[in-house]
Amino acid sequence: MMSNPDFSDRFREALDSEDSLVEAAVSRDPVTTFAESVARGLGAARKSLDCRFLYDAEGSRLFEEITAQPEYYPTRTEAEILERHAGEIHAMTGPVTLVELGSGYSVKTEHLLSAYAGDDARYVPVDVSAGALRAAEQSIGDSFPEVNFTGIRGTYASAFRVLRELSPQMLVFLGSTIGNFEAHERRAFWHDVQAHLPLGDWFLLGADLVKDRDTLLAAYDDAAGVTAHFTKNYFARMNRELDSGVDLGSVEHRAVWNDSLDRIEIYAEFTSAQAIRVAPLGRSFDVGEGERIRVEVSQKFRLPELTEELERFGLEARSSFTDDRGWFGLLLLQRVREHASS
Ligand SMILES: C[S@@+](CC[C@H](N)C(=O)[O-])C[C@H]1O[C@@H](n2cnc3c(N)ncnc32)[C@H](O)[C@@H]1O
Repeated sequence: MMSNPDFSDRFREALDSEDSLVEAAVSRDPVTTFAESVARGLGAARKSLDCRFLYDAEGSRLFEEITAQPEYYPTRTEAEILERHAGEIHAMTGPVTLVELGSGYSVKTEHLLSAYAGDDARYVPVDVSAGALRAAEQSIGDSFPEVNFTGIRGTYASAFRVLRELSPQMLVFLGSTIGNFEAHERRAFWHDVQAHLPLGDWFLLGADLVKDRDTLLAAYDDAAGVTAHFTKNYFARMNRELDSGVDLGSVEHRAVWNDSLDRIEIYAEFTSAQAIRVAPLGRSFDVGEGERIRVEVSQKFRLPELTEELERFGLEARSSFTDDRGWFGLLLLQRVREHASS
């Protein structure tokens, strides 16, 4: 994907001005990017879709609704850990810029900002969802008017390009969003972090941990059906932006625990056969009755293995925090050296 060559300049200008949102615009039409991603996924032997595109304005809103469901323990648990340990984290890092990847509505981040706000803190949230960034700007502006807010609407990759400008910093990646990556994508992501985060800078990572299957399955299939709605919204977006012609009534949400890979897999299962169009590319893909399209994975972690994996990328754990039930982990890491094999 080609990136806009002057994004770094515009970002630098925004830091010195009153601009609160910078578009890391790509020079390509976003609908074409979406269309190509969908066509790639539906053309594969095992059909899947890139979960990044779950987050249009409606998807971001639905995700916030999911986080409030009684079965969805990750948000509440991580928030509790952040609230309890934000002071300690601040004491370890000292005053730093907070750069948050996939920040969404930044609700939990407010616990961190409570600890950092006294430092005339700068907060740089990064998200593909403009709606989420605007909601975050509003609520952080109300609660922490002293915090300097400069949001980036763009992908993680766009943020990596400007990390050098923001040192000393703590890169923040919450919500176990890292679990949405396949293992090879996760390792590529650690590689990017170590390649772009200056030595000595900090990395705060939230990771959901392996636990009993019923608790996990309930979290991804809430009784109120909000997660099911979130899955369906992917196809509503395809209908709107790609003229896909999917019969939304035939899309069923399925959450499955994959025991051998320690992950939840979310599928859309079709109750009737469909020809799914990707109109901007003039293509169409057949989906059979009962066929499943994977829309998301959510890897669950074991802290010792995760810590060891990060260590191999020069990201050393300085502290690790969990809740009383050991359901969710928060790792405070520091970048200490080059990746041995890079
Ligand atoms: C699982 S939600 C987590 C939101 C929030 N951090 C939390 O913990 O509640 C993932 C967020 O990452 C954003 N996102 C997904 N893929 C992204 C990408 N490639 N680049 C930037 N943001 C992305 C989504 O828009 C969404 O707001």
